[in-house]
Amino acid sequence: TLVSSVNKRPDFSTTGQWEIITEKGGQKESAVFDAVMICSGHHVYPHLPKESFPGITCFKGKCFHSRDYKEPGMWKGKRVLVIGLGNSGCDIAAELSHVAQQVIISSRSGSWVMSRVWDSGYPWDMMFITRFQTFLKNNLPTAISDWWYMRQMNARFKHENYGLMPLNGTLRKEPVFNDELPARILCGTVSIKPNVKEFTETSAIFEDGTVFEAIDCVIFATGYGYAYPFLDDSIIKSRKNEVTLYKGIFPPQLEKSTMAVIGLVQSLGAAIPTTDLQARWATQVIKGTCVLPSVEDMMDDIDEKMGKKLKWFGKSETIQTDYIVYMDELASFIGAKPDILQLFLTDPRLAMEVFFGPCSPYQFRLVGPGKWPGARHAILTQWDRSLKPMKTRVVRGVKTLCLFSQLFKFLAIAILLIALFLVLV
Ligand SMILES: Cc1cc2nc3c(=O)[nH]c(=O)nc-3n(C[C@H](O)[C@H](O)[C@H](O)COP(=O)(O)OP(=O)(O)OC[C@H]3O[C@@H](n4cnc5c(N)ncnc54)[C@H](O)[C@@H]3O)c2cc1C
Ligand SMILES: NC(=O)c1ccc[n+]([C@@H]2O[C@H](COP(=O)([O-])OP(=O)(O)OC[C@H]3O[C@@H](n4cnc5c(N)ncnc54)[C@H](OP(=O)(O)O)[C@@H]3O)[C@@H](O)[C@H]2O)c1
Repeated sequence: TLVSSVNKRPDFSTTGQWEIITEKGGQKESAVFDAVMICSGHHVYPHLPKESFPGITCFKGKCFHSRDYKEPGMWKGKRVLVIGLGNSGCDIAAELSHVAQQVIISSRSGSWVMSRVWDSGYPWDMMFITRFQTFLKNNLPTAISDWWYMRQMNARFKHENYGLMPLNGTLRKEPVFNDELPARILCGTVSIKPNVKEFTETSAIFEDGTVFEAIDCVIFATGYGYAYPFLDDSIIKSRKNEVTLYKGIFPPQLEKSTMAVIGLVQSLGAAIPTTDLQARWATQVIKGTCVLPSVEDMMDDIDEKMGKKLKWFGKSETIQTDYIVYMDELASFIGAKPDILQLFLTDPRLAMEVFFGPCSPYQFRLVGPGKWPGARHAILTQWDRSLKPMKTRVVRGVKTLCLFSQLFKFLAIAILLIALFLVLV
């Protein structure tokens, strides 16, 4: 069922109700709702910036957006240019490289390309998205935290050597996750080039003056835009055509807080737990058990956040946010944020895991509404459970040397406590 319009009822300022028009099989229906949660995603409208590429209209080969790429077979033995070094571009290029004669990715600003398989074979986010890392990022001097970040991003291979190096490597924009791409570049079946300056009927001329000749196909893996055609645009983009949503969820200018946008915010962490917490808070606001601040305070918060986003992510229209800081913020509104200091005093084993281990969604089920009695156990067993599906051939008697990492953790705690002591004294 298509939602074709969402409009305030005439008595919205007192009831907060919305009139919704839906369409199915040519039939329109109208219904009134007390609240609306918009969960329409942001990978629906392809961004196809042909105007940025002079000569593309003269190009004689095939040309389409990554959304229309379905399978590699038809490009067997062909020469393919992929524009854009995001996850779509890299997935498509790596797949095509097994059948195509040559694949080139052109990149405007480079990207960090991470392996999903990280230290000791654990998934990247289990090792990387931790409270400890976030604490360091937010508290170390910027120069040190930037240096540390770039060092981690270059840990598997030096991006400079593979033509992937981002122009501004300290920006925390979304990395690409692709285990295969570095190997395909190493084999020579994929090459990385700068942005395309100009197209001719059959070739692309890059900004460094080099040319990719006899191209059969150009794939624009240039991302997506978001739009809410069923809604008055000013509700979500209330200023300068920018998304102005309090905490990325609530339109601040509404007389009643009965609309929430779920899933627009994008972070380095997993999308589902983020939207889960957004929905938990939104339902409390809609029910009236949580109250939003004044319009002025919400607008000030949006402005302050925008400043920080520019620093970390570098784009004014960004919908990106820091995972743990954002999750904690949402959780604190509903009383589901874990109190780390108190945990260290009452349950040090769990505290260690919560602070140094992955910020798994169970952390937001330890306390508050929606508390789950199994959360503690789930956190303490998450490392073993993550590897269980792979351990299909178990070799007995293999000893693990985890003493060093334990020592490192205790050292880090000692340093933190000393730092806290020095701050308080
Ligand atoms: C190629 C690709 C690969 C991806 N791979 C991964 C991955 O491996 N891991 C990962 O975590 N994320 C991945 N993502 C991101 C992932 O798609 C999102 O995180 C996730 O789908 C967001 O879920 P959502 O429910 O918010 O939006 P969506 O999954 O986009 O769902 C929105 C739904 O709303 C519907 N809708 C929109 N407008 C209307 C309307 N007017 N009326 C009625 N219905 C409407 C849409 O049809 C759609 O069904 C990928 C994205 C892309 C594009
Ligand atoms: N396997 C997966 O997990 C997977 C697969 C596909 C997609 N996804 C997700 O889906 C979302 C969309 O991914 P995506 O790769 O389609 O889009 P994306 O992440 O937005 O990447 C778009 C790419 O196109 C480039 N680009 C945009 N406009 C351009 C222009 N005018 N000229 C030159 N280059 C331009 C960008 O360059 P700049 O960096 O310079 O802006 C960027 O490299 C992401 O969140 C992604 O994680 C995930």
